[in-house]
Amino acid sequence: MSLENKVVLVTGAGRGIGAGIAKCFAQHGAKVAVTDLSQELADSSAAALDTQSMGIVADAANQNSMAEAIDLVASKLGQLDILVNNAGIGGLNVEAQELSPASAFLGLSDDNWDEQLHYNLRTAFSSTHAAISRIRDGGSIINIASIAALSPTPMLPAYGAAKAAVAHLTRTLAVDLASRKIRVNCICPGIIWTRAWELLADGMKARQSEFANMSQRQIFEVVIENAAPLGEEQTPEDIGNLAVFFASDQARQITGQVVAVDGGISLGQMG
Ligand SMILES: NC(=O)c1ccc[n+]([C@@H]2O[C@H](COP(=O)([O-])OP(=O)(O)OC[C@H]3O[C@@H](n4cnc5c(N)ncnc54)[C@H](O)[C@@H]3O)[C@@H](O)[C@H]2O)c1
Repeated sequence: MSLENKVVLVTGAGRGIGAGIAKCFAQHGAKVAVTDLSQELADSSAAALDTQSMGIVADAANQNSMAEAIDLVASKLGQLDILVNNAGIGGLNVEAQELSPASAFLGLSDDNWDEQLHYNLRTAFSSTHAAISRIRDGGSIINIASIAALSPTPMLPAYGAAKAAVAHLTRTLAVDLASRKIRVNCICPGIIWTRAWELLADGMKARQSEFANMSQRQIFEVVIENAAPLGEEQTPEDIGNLAVFFASDQARQITGQVVAVDGGISLGQMG
């Protein structure tokens, strides 16, 4: 699969899954723009790529900020062919859990709810909105949701709702942009060892006594063992490989699809 001469922008790619996605696109010959809230993270992630690349500080949840970033990409790298909406934040709200130990949902304030939808749904909306008039016909948009979009996750009520909305927005935009041959697809990552998961482990440790004496990594490994039929964690590159495929000509008839890369976690086995 060659993406030679294609230009991709990956939001929130200063670290974690986004950085892995950027790496996979670079390995397939694309020019890569890395955006993040942190200039330092964006620059270091872009500098690690073996391709023409640039790091840009841009807020994925702000149309003006993303419009400026995409215009900069067009002037430096020539165009925009592919947008990956990856930026997001973890969803476990420890404060909410302390307020209402029995129900993460009841512990959520209006502000908690708004924050989750801002970082995990508005990011996809604002970035896509800014990109639509700038991305080339025949291009590709890839949204990063979560397995929390597919199965109820009572620990993460607002995060799950935001990610389910991202998955559905994917289908709506796939129809909306089909006349321009822009394909829109969505990846639901499973369980991936990133800074976001370290913070999730801290929250689980605080609220579940069985994790009290475990390290963040030990908690992560117990969750993988219990939840993943294939028995292994997923990596940022597992997500990047599917993103590259979705963006390639080999996927030219695939649009509006929501695919889990989760080692079978979302199958929800009963025994
Ligand atoms: N790690 C997992 O197990 C997992 C599982 C399912 C889905 N996801 C999703 O994958 C995506 C990446 O998660 P991660 O685990 O790599 O997280 P991470 O916290 O390691 O990295 C996220 C990056 O996004 C940036 N960011 C956050 N908000 C932004 C904004 N408004 N504009 C620009 N950049 C912003 C952060 O600065 C950070 O560098 C998120 O959408 C997350 O919900 C992660």
